[in-house]
Amino acid sequence: MKTLYLSNSQQDIATAAAVLRDGGLVAMPTETVYGLAANALDGSAVRRIFEAKGRPMDNPLIVHVADVSDIGRLGLVAEFPEKARRLADAFWPGPLTIIMKKGGVIPDEVSAGLDTVAIRLPSHPDARSLIRESGLPLAAPSANTSGKPSPTTARHVADDMDGRIEAIVDGGACGVGVESTVITVAADVPRILRPGIVTREEIEAVIGPVEVDRAVLNKLENNEKAASPGMKYKHYAPRARVILVRGSDEKYTAFVNRCYKRDGDCAAMCYSEDVPSIDCPAVSLGSKSDLKQQAQALFDALRAVDEIDGVTTVYAHCPTAEGVGMALYNRLIRAAAFQVLNLPDKRIIGLSGQTGAGKSEVAAILAELGAGVVSADTAARQAVEEADVKAALCAAFGDVLNPDRSLNRSRVARIAFGSKKNLQMLNHITHPRIVEIMLEMAADCAGDTVIFDAPQLFEARADVFCEKIISVLSDREKRLERLVRRDNLRKEEVELRMSAQYDEQFFIAHSDSIIDNNGTVEELRERVKEVYGRLTDGE
Ligand code: TXA
Ligand code: MG
Repeated sequence: MKTLYLSNSQQDIATAAAVLRDGGLVAMPTETVYGLAANALDGSAVRRIFEAKGRPMDNPLIVHVADVSDIGRLGLVAEFPEKARRLADAFWPGPLTIIMKKGGVIPDEVSAGLDTVAIRLPSHPDARSLIRESGLPLAAPSANTSGKPSPTTARHVADDMDGRIEAIVDGGACGVGVESTVITVAADVPRILRPGIVTREEIEAVIGPVEVDRAVLNKLENNEKAASPGMKYKHYAPRARVILVRGSDEKYTAFVNRCYKRDGDCAAMCYSEDVPSIDCPAVSLGSKSDLKQQAQALFDALRAVDEIDGVTTVYAHCPTAEGVGMALYNRLIRAAAFQVLNLPDKRIIGLSGQTGAGKSEVAAILAELGAGVVSADTAARQAVEEADVKAALCAAFGDVLNPDRSLNRSRVARIAFGSKKNLQMLNHITHPRIVEIMLEMAADCAGDTVIFDAPQLFEARADVFCEKIISVLSDREKRLERLVRRDNLRKEEVELRMSAQYDEQFFIAHSDSIIDNNGTVEELRERVKEVYGRLTDGE
């Protein structure tokens, strides 16, 4: 199909209206995002919206009207409750969608089989003149391919919909930038199902207390039912993986810069104030203090990261979930598939080195010197008892549980050390969670300096959280002797494990300080003191 590109002139709006009356699909600007419109009273026209977007059929659509009187005149709702009227008076025309009991004329395709319907009266002049000119209520979801960021310009729509729909009306960039606030008044207590720039506080000032649906800020458990079906799908995702990062400006920028130095394939999504301190490609959401500007920029920014060459991961600085921030957070957390990294407000120092070099002795001395110590081994023991991790291990390695459902660790170790591929798989499953637990443990430490005691600091990619890194090294013969004694292993077994590790040169190249542990206990203590003093002195 050849898509017609229309302006917002009166004549082009009339052309678009005719397309709609013929059962066609037209993308139209609204003040929030572009919508993909069809005649809301024509089930087969509406079905084509789902096809064009690749949208699951159980996700209902919003019906757009140009005048409040259309709702009663056309019988769109079964009742128009008092609270809905007050909301309409206060916020319409504008970016608020109200869910009410549906009227008999609403096709099942629009309401996805629910007994309610979502109604919105947009303020955008082009949307309103298109609705008026067509003489129809218009069902319109956001005009993006399902799962992608919503479109805020006609070009975004064209990128997703060219050749799939009859026409696109270009009305310029959308002013609000995030979709309307969705509230249901069909429940006893009105409930916000999707936050937008009409905030909870503004709504409560008009109709009193409202609830915020759990799915707005949290990931639903497998057995939980979504009040708003749209909330259960992955959303707003660019091709690059999005990770939300929570932390102070300083910690965030330092973290992103370390990731970039290490991997070279990331971008930052952040506030304009942070851009000068960031080394990697950065997409700005606008000023830190201007939430409305951030909302306006959000979807364009999410699409823009895919246009930067070589970017596979985007670290987005996490907004607060207050006021308009709730709308931003709700979109970003979905774009990130609920992956959030919490950077503790601590100076983290990595401690690594070859096995048997005396890392634990060094950690003990650092603890005496006042540092908090977070052990990767402790975190690992906690991680492997978590249900998700156990399930992933069973999926990868077969049944590796004891009769009491705890993990059979020696069995896992046997399998993992059996081949390089298995070990990689084990690490791939456990490392991310282990690091997350280490960050949680670090946040709970008392002082401002925390040691990440991790033999596999680099393999687990925990080094990106460390401001400084210390590695402990000692001669091969000494390490062999210690391990044979400590772990009760045969010399050949120890040699096998040692050969799987990075060599000395690697640790030297990737550390800020090296502690050589070939001497006496006293010498070690002195050296640790000296290194720790230097690293914590702000050097
Ligand atoms: O700003 C907007 O609302 C834009 C513009 C085009 O108006 N539209 C939009 O539509 O964002 P859409 O389909 O992308 O999102 C509608 C959301 C979905 O999460 C859907 O599940 C929910 O509203 N929804 C629609 N009808 C519902 C109903 N009867 N009950 C519960 N949720 C409903
Ligand atoms: Mg949408």
